Amino acid sequence: MNRREALKGAAYAAALFGLPPARGATAAPPLPDKSVLERDPEAYWGRIRKEQFLLPDWRTFLNNGSLGVAPKVVVEAIVDYLNRSAALMVEEYPRWGYETLDEHRKEIAEFVGCRPEDLALTHNATEAMSTIANGLDLKAGDEVIMTDHEHPGGSCCWLQRQARHGIQVRQVKLPIPPSSPEQIADVLVSAIGPRTRVLSFSGITTTTGLVMPVRQICDAARSKGVITVIDGAHINGQIPVRLADLGCDYFASSPHKWLFAPAGCGLLYGREEMLDRLWVNVVTSGWDKKEELKAARFQMVGTNNRAIFEGFLAGVRFLKQIGPGRVYDRIHQLARGVYEKARTLPNVEMLTPADERMYAGIVSFRIKGLDLKPVWAMCKQRRIWALESDKFRVSTHIHTRPSDVDMLFEVIREVQSGKAA
Ligand SMILES: Cc1ncc(COP(=O)(O)O)c(C=O)c1O
Repeated sequence: MNRREALKGAAYAAALFGLPPARGATAAPPLPDKSVLERDPEAYWGRIRKEQFLLPDWRTFLNNGSLGVAPKVVVEAIVDYLNRSAALMVEEYPRWGYETLDEHRKEIAEFVGCRPEDLALTHNATEAMSTIANGLDLKAGDEVIMTDHEHPGGSCCWLQRQARHGIQVRQVKLPIPPSSPEQIADVLVSAIGPRTRVLSFSGITTTTGLVMPVRQICDAARSKGVITVIDGAHINGQIPVRLADLGCDYFASSPHKWLFAPAGCGLLYGREEMLDRLWVNVVTSGWDKKEELKAARFQMVGTNNRAIFEGFLAGVRFLKQIGPGRVYDRIHQLARGVYEKARTLPNVEMLTPADERMYAGIVSFRIKGLDLKPVWAMCKQRRIWALESDKFRVSTHIHTRPSDVDMLFEVIREVQSGKAA
């Protein structure tokens, strides 16, 4: 393919993704030097946003908790793979769903901290949670415990089994805000009863961004013979952890939230002996090859778009290049700023605990008596993208500017003081 043809192809693929062609074809410059970060951190992060993302200046985005933003290198990797595969300039079928993608899994597993053979590629956490819930042998009367803060993607899979197979789902109420990780662990572990077979809970809750004491809970559950399932949709990319160190039996993730993956990338992890116990539920050849395929049995789901996993790899490399520790520090520094601003608002009820071990990049609060309708309307008008719900749930990532946070609080103050038009 000559350069002209390649650019034409890039423009076409960019159009497929709804990108302006010129930007879709724009290469990301190298990352700013780390000396900039040491000298002037705000300048460094400002350049990361401006140079590494496609986000226009006018967009304020505070909702990674729902879906993250792919940096340029990720979009480029997708477009590049689409181009090469459409031209059949690849030597394998340009798909996943029948392939084990060992090289991809190896690199991703190294980053998320587990063995490649214990990791399967999925479309998202919802799919991985359903695979786990539907894959376990449970009988009528067996109890599954979850919290009252689960996302439907992590709870409906169990509720359907309750309706269909007669298992018993019990919700445990989390104290909001909790006083300590120990308190949370105690609430969940003390709920385990004689019929409890599974404890299924979010590693970071969707509602308030609470970072759960996963290891503590999983160790205690295992000592009581209870299977642990972690809905980790928010974990990878938001906090640096090694999956194998969490002590859970199964884990589901949506790296398109915090790990820069394009929409439609997910992960399913299981401890080796626990994967052996799991039935496959989207089924094609390979479902019974436990020994040979290990976790890859769960990614045999039929023909799928491989370009997104090329993008996922690019996202992992992007984060690694900046440094997971630096990324976490920045996300959390901004979130702490959100916490501090929220805390001083009149009539505020903080839902995120002040204890910094218990939140990372999500801060959640309510304001008593405040009509949220004009808040969301003004956010739309000012191009502030926030999660519209019955409370504020603010997510910060490395592309978030301190001024983005200020803009949201300006809106809140204006509505609170009755200055809104
Ligand atoms: C805790 C949790 N689990 C699962 C999901 C579902 O994620 P996905 O739509 O990527 O499957 C979400 C989405 O917000 C979530 O917050």
